[in-house]
Amino acid sequence: MARDERSQEHAREALRRCEVLAAISATDGAIERVYLSPEHARANATVAAWIEAAGMASWQDAAGNARGSYPAATEGAPVLLLGSHLDTVPNAGRYDGILGVMIALAVVERLHERGERLPFAIEVLGFADEEGVRFGRTLLGSCAVAGTWEDAWWGLEDGDGTTLREAFVAFGLDPERLRDAELDPATIVGYLEAHIEQGPLLLDADQPLGMVSGIMGAKRFDLTMTGEAGHAGGVPMRHRRDALLGAAEIVIAVEQVALEAGIVGTVGRLQAFPGAANVIPGIAEFSLDLRAATDVQRDQAWDAIKACAVEAAAARRLAFSEELRHEAPATSSDRRLSEAVEAGIRAVTGKDAPELLSKAGHDAMAVAALTRYAMLFIRCGNGGVSHHPDESVTEDDVALAIDAFEAAVLWLAEERG
Ligand code: GLV
Ligand code: MN
Ligand code: MN
Repeated sequence: MARDERSQEHAREALRRCEVLAAISATDGAIERVYLSPEHARANATVAAWIEAAGMASWQDAAGNARGSYPAATEGAPVLLLGSHLDTVPNAGRYDGILGVMIALAVVERLHERGERLPFAIEVLGFADEEGVRFGRTLLGSCAVAGTWEDAWWGLEDGDGTTLREAFVAFGLDPERLRDAELDPATIVGYLEAHIEQGPLLLDADQPLGMVSGIMGAKRFDLTMTGEAGHAGGVPMRHRRDALLGAAEIVIAVEQVALEAGIVGTVGRLQAFPGAANVIPGIAEFSLDLRAATDVQRDQAWDAIKACAVEAAAARRLAFSEELRHEAPATSSDRRLSEAVEAGIRAVTGKDAPELLSKAGHDAMAVAALTRYAMLFIRCGNGGVSHHPDESVTEDDVALAIDAFEAAVLWLAEERG
Protein backbone atom coordinates (compact mmCIF):
# COMPACT_ATOMS: atom_id res chain seq x y z
CA MET A 1 0.00 0.00 0.00
CA ALA A 2 1.32 3.46 -0.87
CA ARG A 3 2.65 5.40 2.10
CA ASP A 4 0.05 8.15 1.62
CA GLU A 5 -2.83 5.69 1.84
CA ARG A 6 -1.26 4.06 4.90
CA SER A 7 -0.99 7.49 6.54
CA GLN A 8 -4.65 8.19 5.87
CA GLU A 9 -5.52 4.80 7.32
CA HIS A 10 -3.52 5.52 10.49
CA ALA A 11 -5.18 8.92 10.74
CA ARG A 12 -8.65 7.38 10.38
CA GLU A 13 -7.80 4.86 13.11
CA ALA A 14 -6.44 7.60 15.41
CA LEU A 15 -9.68 9.57 14.93
CA ARG A 16 -11.82 6.45 15.45
CA ARG A 17 -10.00 5.87 18.74
CA CYS A 18 -10.72 9.46 19.79
CA GLU A 19 -14.42 8.69 19.19
CA VAL A 20 -14.20 5.50 21.26
CA LEU A 21 -12.68 7.45 24.16
CA ALA A 22 -15.23 10.26 23.74
CA ALA A 23 -17.94 7.71 24.55
CA ILE A 24 -16.26 6.91 27.90
CA SER A 25 -17.79 9.79 29.80
CA ALA A 26 -19.36 10.59 33.15
CA THR A 27 -22.03 12.68 31.42
CA ASP A 28 -24.58 11.51 28.85
CA GLY A 29 -24.31 13.46 25.60
CA ALA A 30 -21.09 15.24 26.66
CA ILE A 31 -17.47 14.31 27.27
CA GLU A 32 -16.17 14.39 30.83
CA ARG A 33 -13.42 12.15 32.18
CA VAL A 34 -11.66 13.23 35.35
CA TYR A 35 -8.82 11.81 37.39
CA LEU A 36 -9.36 8.59 39.36
CA SER A 37 -12.96 8.19 38.16
CA PRO A 38 -14.57 5.00 36.81
CA GLU A 39 -14.25 6.58 33.33
CA HIS A 40 -10.52 7.05 33.87
CA ALA A 41 -10.22 3.31 34.64
CA ARG A 42 -12.24 2.36 31.53
CA ALA A 43 -10.22 4.67 29.30
CA ASN A 44 -6.95 3.21 30.61
CA ALA A 45 -8.17 -0.35 29.94
CA THR A 46 -9.17 0.65 26.39
CA VAL A 47 -5.86 2.38 25.72
CA ALA A 48 -3.92 -0.57 27.19
CA ALA A 49 -5.31 -2.81 24.42
CA TRP A 50 -4.14 -0.32 21.77
CA ILE A 51 -0.72 -0.08 23.43
CA GLU A 52 -0.37 -3.86 23.21
CA ALA A 53 -1.58 -3.87 19.59
CA ALA A 54 1.32 -1.51 18.81
CA GLY A 55 3.82 -4.10 20.05
CA MET A 56 4.40 -2.55 23.45
CA ALA A 57 4.33 -3.83 26.99
CA SER A 58 1.46 -2.05 28.75
CA TRP A 59 0.92 -1.04 32.36
CA GLN A 60 -0.91 1.45 34.52
CA ASP A 61 1.62 3.21 36.72
CA ALA A 62 1.41 4.12 40.41
CA ALA A 63 -0.29 7.46 39.62
CA GLY A 64 -2.86 5.98 37.21
CA ASN A 65 -1.07 6.98 33.99
CA ALA A 66 -1.47 4.57 31.04
CA ARG A 67 2.01 3.58 29.84
CA GLY A 68 3.57 1.44 27.15
CA SER A 69 7.13 0.61 26.31
CA TYR A 70 8.67 -0.37 22.98
CA PRO A 71 12.15 -1.88 23.16
CA ALA A 72 15.30 -0.36 21.65
CA ALA A 73 17.67 -2.10 19.24
CA THR A 74 20.01 -2.77 22.14
CA GLU A 75 19.40 -3.45 25.79
CA GLY A 76 20.13 -0.68 28.27
CA ALA A 77 19.58 2.04 25.64
CA PRO A 78 17.97 5.30 26.84
CA VAL A 79 14.26 6.06 26.40
CA LEU A 80 12.44 8.62 24.25
CA LEU A 81 9.11 9.64 25.82
CA LEU A 82 6.06 10.35 23.65
CA GLY A 83 2.76 11.37 25.18
CA SER A 84 -0.06 13.64 26.17
CA HIS A 85 -3.14 13.32 28.41
CA LEU A 86 -6.32 11.22 28.50
CA ASP A 87 -8.41 13.26 30.98
CA THR A 88 -10.78 16.02 29.90
CA VAL A 89 -12.46 19.19 31.07
CA PRO A 90 -16.26 19.07 31.56
CA ASN A 91 -18.18 19.23 28.24
CA ALA A 92 -14.89 18.69 26.44
CA GLY A 93 -13.89 18.22 22.83
CA ARG A 94 -12.61 14.90 21.52
CA TYR A 95 -9.00 15.81 20.75
CA ASP A 96 -7.41 17.91 23.53
CA GLY A 97 -4.65 15.60 24.81
CA ILE A 98 -6.30 12.45 23.48
CA LEU A 99 -5.19 12.97 19.87
CA GLY A 100 -1.56 13.39 20.98
CA VAL A 101 -1.61 9.99 22.68
CA MET A 102 -3.21 8.42 19.60
CA ILE A 103 -0.54 9.95 17.35
CA ALA A 104 2.22 8.60 19.60
CA LEU A 105 0.59 5.15 19.41
CA ALA A 106 0.36 5.36 15.60
CA VAL A 107 4.08 6.15 15.36
CA VAL A 108 5.04 3.13 17.47
CA GLU A 109 2.56 0.96 15.59
CA ARG A 110 4.39 1.82 12.36
CA LEU A 111 7.77 0.90 13.84
CA HIS A 112 6.24 -2.35 15.05
CA GLU A 113 4.72 -3.11 11.62
CA ARG A 114 8.14 -2.67 10.02
CA GLY A 115 9.86 -4.61 12.81
CA GLU A 116 12.10 -1.56 13.28
CA ARG A 117 14.07 -0.95 16.47
CA LEU A 118 15.76 2.37 17.20
CA PRO A 119 18.87 3.30 19.21
CA PHE A 120 16.47 4.27 22.02
CA ALA A 121 13.44 2.61 23.53
CA ILE A 122 10.15 4.47 23.28
CA GLU A 123 7.74 4.97 26.11
CA VAL A 124 4.22 6.17 25.35
CA LEU A 125 2.51 8.00 28.21
CA GLY A 126 -1.23 8.65 28.46
CA PHE A 127 -1.16 11.07 31.38
CA ALA A 128 -4.06 10.68 33.79
CA ASP A 129 -4.57 14.25 34.96
CA GLU A 130 -3.48 17.27 32.99
CA GLU A 131 -6.61 19.39 33.35
CA GLY A 132 -6.80 19.40 37.15
CA VAL A 133 -10.61 19.41 37.04
CA ARG A 134 -11.23 17.14 40.00
CA PHE A 135 -8.71 18.36 42.59
CA GLY A 136 -7.97 21.87 41.30
CA ARG A 137 -4.28 21.07 40.86
CA THR A 138 -3.28 20.41 37.25
CA LEU A 139 -0.62 18.09 35.79
CA LEU A 140 -0.84 15.52 38.58
CA GLY A 141 -0.07 12.60 36.22
CA SER A 142 3.00 14.17 34.65
CA CYS A 143 4.27 15.55 38.00
CA ALA A 144 4.22 11.99 39.38
CA VAL A 145 6.39 10.83 36.46
CA ALA A 146 8.69 13.87 36.74
CA GLY A 147 9.21 13.30 40.48
CA THR A 148 7.74 16.67 41.49
CA TRP A 149 4.65 15.41 43.34
CA GLU A 150 4.21 17.30 46.61
CA ASP A 151 3.04 15.51 49.76
CA ALA A 152 0.74 18.45 50.56
CA TRP A 153 -1.40 17.45 47.56
CA TRP A 154 -2.68 14.30 49.29
CA GLY A 155 -5.06 16.49 51.29
CA LEU A 156 -6.59 18.22 48.23
CA GLU A 157 -10.34 17.66 48.11
CA ASP A 158 -12.71 17.25 45.19
CA GLY A 159 -16.16 18.85 45.09
CA ASP A 160 -17.58 16.04 47.27
CA GLY A 161 -14.92 16.40 49.96
CA THR A 162 -13.03 13.25 48.89
CA THR A 163 -9.30 13.73 49.36
CA LEU A 164 -6.77 12.85 46.71
CA ARG A 165 -5.44 10.16 49.04
CA GLU A 166 -8.91 8.63 49.47
CA ALA A 167 -9.53 8.76 45.70
CA PHE A 168 -6.21 6.95 45.09
CA VAL A 169 -7.24 4.12 47.38
CA ALA A 170 -10.77 3.92 45.92
CA PHE A 171 -9.21 3.67 42.43
CA GLY A 172 -7.04 0.77 43.59
CA LEU A 173 -3.76 2.69 43.79
CA ASP A 174 -1.41 2.73 46.77
CA PRO A 175 -0.38 6.28 47.78
CA GLU A 176 2.72 4.84 49.46
CA ARG A 177 3.95 3.57 46.09
CA LEU A 178 3.51 6.83 44.17
CA ARG A 179 7.25 7.20 43.64
CA ASP A 180 7.19 4.02 41.50
CA ALA A 181 5.74 6.19 38.71
CA GLU A 182 8.91 8.36 38.59
CA LEU A 183 11.44 8.15 35.80
CA ASP A 184 15.18 8.57 36.21
CA PRO A 185 16.36 11.57 34.12
CA ALA A 186 19.67 9.82 33.41
CA THR A 187 17.84 7.24 31.29
CA ILE A 188 15.81 9.67 29.15
CA VAL A 189 16.53 11.10 25.68
CA GLY A 190 13.71 13.67 25.93
CA TYR A 191 9.94 14.11 25.59
CA LEU A 192 7.92 14.85 22.45
CA GLU A 193 4.24 15.79 22.60
CA ALA A 194 1.78 16.26 19.74
CA HIS A 195 -1.30 18.35 20.62
CA ILE A 196 -4.04 20.29 18.89
CA GLU A 197 -3.22 24.01 18.81
CA GLN A 198 -6.33 25.12 20.76
CA GLY A 199 -6.27 28.45 18.96
CA PRO A 200 -6.71 29.90 15.45
CA LEU A 201 -3.12 30.78 14.45
CA LEU A 202 -2.36 27.77 12.23
CA LEU A 203 -5.82 28.02 10.69
CA ASP A 204 -5.28 31.71 9.92
CA ALA A 205 -1.80 31.01 8.54
CA ASP A 206 -3.17 28.17 6.36
CA GLN A 207 -0.62 25.76 7.88
CA PRO A 208 -1.51 22.26 9.09
CA LEU A 209 1.30 21.88 11.63
CA GLY A 210 3.45 24.06 13.84
CA MET A 211 6.23 23.75 16.38
CA VAL A 212 6.06 25.14 19.88
CA SER A 213 8.72 27.57 21.11
CA GLY A 214 7.57 27.33 24.73
CA ILE A 215 4.62 27.24 27.10
CA MET A 216 3.31 30.23 29.03
CA GLY A 217 3.69 30.21 32.79
CA ALA A 218 0.41 29.90 34.68
CA LYS A 219 -1.05 30.52 38.12
CA ARG A 220 -4.51 29.56 39.31
CA PHE A 221 -6.19 30.90 42.41
CA ASP A 222 -9.37 30.23 44.35
CA LEU A 223 -10.60 33.65 45.48
CA THR A 224 -13.30 34.50 48.01
CA MET A 225 -15.17 37.70 48.89
CA THR A 226 -17.09 37.50 52.15
CA GLY A 227 -19.78 39.99 53.13
CA GLU A 228 -23.14 39.52 54.77
CA ALA A 229 -26.21 37.72 53.46
CA GLY A 230 -29.54 39.48 54.00
CA HIS A 231 -33.05 40.08 52.73
CA ALA A 232 -33.13 41.26 49.10
CA GLY A 233 -36.09 43.45 49.92
CA GLY A 234 -35.43 44.54 53.45
CA VAL A 235 -31.78 45.68 53.38
CA PRO A 236 -31.38 49.16 51.81
CA MET A 237 -28.81 49.32 48.99
CA ARG A 238 -26.36 51.51 50.91
CA HIS A 239 -26.35 49.17 53.94
CA ARG A 240 -25.40 46.08 51.99
CA ARG A 241 -22.19 44.08 52.11
CA ASP A 242 -22.81 42.19 48.84
CA ALA A 243 -19.96 39.74 48.22
CA LEU A 244 -20.91 39.15 44.59
CA LEU A 245 -20.56 42.85 43.75
CA GLY A 246 -17.02 42.75 45.16
CA ALA A 247 -16.26 39.69 43.01
CA ALA A 248 -17.78 41.39 39.95
CA GLU A 249 -15.30 44.25 40.32
CA ILE A 250 -12.43 41.73 40.25
CA VAL A 251 -13.81 39.98 37.16
CA ILE A 252 -13.72 43.30 35.30
CA ALA A 253 -10.27 44.15 36.73
CA VAL A 254 -8.91 40.83 35.41
CA GLU A 255 -9.94 41.77 31.88
CA GLN A 256 -8.49 45.28 32.15
CA VAL A 257 -5.18 44.17 33.65
CA ALA A 258 -4.78 41.34 31.11
CA LEU A 259 -5.47 43.65 28.16
CA GLU A 260 -3.03 46.27 29.44
CA ALA A 261 -0.28 43.71 30.17
CA GLY A 262 -0.80 41.73 26.94
CA ILE A 263 -1.38 38.50 28.87
CA VAL A 264 -4.42 36.26 29.36
CA GLY A 265 -6.60 36.11 32.47
CA THR A 266 -9.85 34.23 33.02
CA VAL A 267 -12.46 33.90 35.75
CA GLY A 268 -14.02 30.60 34.68
CA ARG A 269 -16.01 29.77 37.80
CA LEU A 270 -18.04 32.02 40.06
CA GLN A 271 -20.56 30.99 42.69
CA ALA A 272 -22.65 33.13 45.00
CA PHE A 273 -23.89 31.82 48.37
CA PRO A 274 -26.41 31.05 49.65
CA GLY A 275 -27.53 31.31 46.01
CA ALA A 276 -31.18 32.38 46.13
CA ALA A 277 -32.87 35.10 44.08
CA ASN A 278 -34.15 36.87 47.19
CA VAL A 279 -30.99 36.71 49.32
CA ILE A 280 -28.09 39.17 49.08
CA PRO A 281 -24.93 37.08 48.38
CA GLY A 282 -22.95 36.75 51.60
CA ILE A 283 -20.08 34.85 50.00
CA ALA A 284 -18.73 34.79 46.44
CA GLU A 285 -16.20 32.16 45.47
CA PHE A 286 -14.43 32.41 42.12
CA SER A 287 -11.41 31.13 40.24
CA LEU A 288 -8.66 33.05 38.48
CA ASP A 289 -6.41 31.61 35.77
CA LEU A 290 -3.48 33.84 34.73
CA ARG A 291 -0.98 33.05 31.97
CA ALA A 292 1.92 35.05 30.52
CA ALA A 293 5.01 34.57 28.39
CA THR A 294 7.19 35.29 31.44
CA ASP A 295 6.63 34.58 35.12
CA VAL A 296 7.45 38.23 35.91
CA GLN A 297 4.61 39.50 33.68
CA ARG A 298 2.23 36.97 35.20
CA ASP A 299 3.17 37.90 38.77
CA GLN A 300 2.96 41.65 38.08
CA ALA A 301 -0.54 41.12 36.70
CA TRP A 302 -1.51 39.23 39.86
CA ASP A 303 -0.14 42.04 42.03
CA ALA A 304 -2.31 44.54 40.12
CA ILE A 305 -5.44 42.35 40.36
CA LYS A 306 -4.87 41.75 44.05
CA ALA A 307 -4.52 45.49 44.68
CA CYS A 308 -7.93 46.00 42.98
CA ALA A 309 -9.42 43.20 45.09
CA VAL A 310 -8.13 44.68 48.35
CA GLU A 311 -9.41 48.13 47.37
CA ALA A 312 -12.84 46.83 46.32
CA ALA A 313 -13.13 44.80 49.52
CA ALA A 314 -12.31 47.82 51.69
CA ALA A 315 -14.77 50.06 49.82
CA ARG A 316 -17.57 47.50 50.19
CA ARG A 317 -16.71 46.34 53.74
CA LEU A 318 -15.93 42.81 52.55
CA ALA A 319 -13.17 40.36 53.44
CA PHE A 320 -11.00 39.16 50.56
CA SER A 321 -8.99 35.93 50.66
CA GLU A 322 -6.90 34.02 48.15
CA GLU A 323 -5.57 30.50 47.79
CA LEU A 324 -2.97 29.62 45.16
CA ARG A 325 -4.11 26.31 43.63
CA HIS A 326 -1.61 25.86 40.83
CA GLU A 327 1.67 27.36 39.70
CA ALA A 328 3.70 26.42 36.65
CA PRO A 329 6.69 28.40 35.43
CA ALA A 330 7.01 29.44 31.79
CA THR A 331 9.14 26.89 29.94
CA SER A 332 11.00 26.80 26.63
CA SER A 333 11.22 23.93 24.18
CA ASP A 334 14.61 22.31 23.70
CA ARG A 335 16.37 23.57 20.56
CA ARG A 336 17.71 20.22 19.44
CA LEU A 337 14.41 18.36 19.92
CA SER A 338 12.60 21.23 18.20
CA GLU A 339 14.96 20.84 15.26
CA ALA A 340 13.74 17.26 15.01
CA VAL A 341 10.10 18.41 15.05
CA GLU A 342 10.90 21.14 12.52
CA ALA A 343 12.63 18.65 10.23
CA GLY A 344 9.63 16.32 10.56
CA ILE A 345 7.19 19.09 9.62
CA ARG A 346 9.33 20.27 6.71
CA ALA A 347 9.62 16.69 5.43
CA VAL A 348 5.84 16.32 5.17
CA THR A 349 4.62 19.84 4.31
CA GLY A 350 7.61 21.03 2.28
CA LYS A 351 7.38 24.31 4.22
CA ASP A 352 9.15 25.89 7.16
CA ALA A 353 7.33 25.13 10.38
CA PRO A 354 5.55 28.09 11.98
CA GLU A 355 6.69 28.62 15.57
CA LEU A 356 4.03 29.23 18.22
CA LEU A 357 4.13 30.07 21.93
CA SER A 358 1.57 27.87 23.67
CA LYS A 359 -0.88 29.73 25.88
CA ALA A 360 -2.46 26.42 26.85
CA GLY A 361 -0.79 24.29 29.49
CA HIS A 362 0.57 20.87 28.57
CA ASP A 363 2.12 17.86 30.26
CA ALA A 364 5.40 18.96 28.65
CA MET A 365 5.63 21.78 31.21
CA ALA A 366 5.67 19.26 34.07
CA VAL A 367 7.93 16.83 32.20
CA ALA A 368 10.34 19.78 31.76
CA ALA A 369 11.43 19.18 35.38
CA LEU A 370 12.63 15.72 34.28
CA THR A 371 13.93 16.17 30.76
CA ARG A 372 13.99 18.46 27.70
CA TYR A 373 10.89 18.65 25.51
CA ALA A 374 9.54 19.73 22.14
CA MET A 375 5.99 19.89 20.83
CA LEU A 376 4.15 19.61 17.54
CA PHE A 377 0.87 21.51 17.12
CA ILE A 378 -1.95 20.41 14.83
CA ARG A 379 -4.34 22.90 13.25
CA CYS A 380 -7.82 23.10 14.80
CA GLY A 381 -10.94 23.82 12.73
CA ASN A 382 -13.98 25.85 13.81
CA GLY A 383 -11.95 28.99 14.46
CA GLY A 384 -9.55 27.05 16.71
CA VAL A 385 -12.10 26.39 19.44
CA SER A 386 -11.05 23.98 22.22
CA HIS A 387 -12.31 22.97 25.68
CA HIS A 388 -15.60 22.79 23.80
CA PRO A 389 -17.49 19.98 22.01
CA ASP A 390 -16.88 21.73 18.65
CA GLU A 391 -13.14 20.98 18.76
CA SER A 392 -12.22 19.68 15.30
CA VAL A 393 -9.31 18.47 13.17
CA THR A 394 -9.21 17.05 9.65
CA GLU A 395 -8.14 13.53 8.73
CA ASP A 396 -5.59 15.00 6.30
CA ASP A 397 -3.98 17.11 9.03
CA VAL A 398 -3.85 14.13 11.38
CA ALA A 399 -2.18 12.04 8.64
CA LEU A 400 0.42 14.80 8.20
CA ALA A 401 0.91 15.01 11.96
CA ILE A 402 1.54 11.26 12.26
CA ASP A 403 4.02 11.43 9.37
CA ALA A 404 5.79 14.48 10.83
CA PHE A 405 5.91 13.04 14.37
CA GLU A 406 7.33 9.79 13.02
CA ALA A 407 9.88 11.71 10.93
CA ALA A 408 10.93 13.65 14.06
CA VAL A 409 11.46 10.41 15.98
CA LEU A 410 13.47 8.92 13.08
CA TRP A 411 15.52 12.15 12.84
CA LEU A 412 16.48 11.72 16.50
CA ALA A 413 17.25 8.04 15.90
CA GLU A 414 19.55 8.94 13.02
CA GLU A 415 21.25 11.62 15.11
CA ARG A 416 22.04 9.04 17.79
CA GLY A 417 22.48 6.17 15.37
C1 GLV B 1 -5.08 22.92 29.92
O1 GLV B 1 -5.76 22.58 28.99
C2 GLV B 1 -4.94 24.30 30.21
O2 GLV B 1 -4.17 24.98 29.53
O3 GLV B 1 -5.65 24.78 31.09
MN1 MN C 1 -7.14 21.05 28.02
MN1 MN D 1 -4.38 19.41 26.61
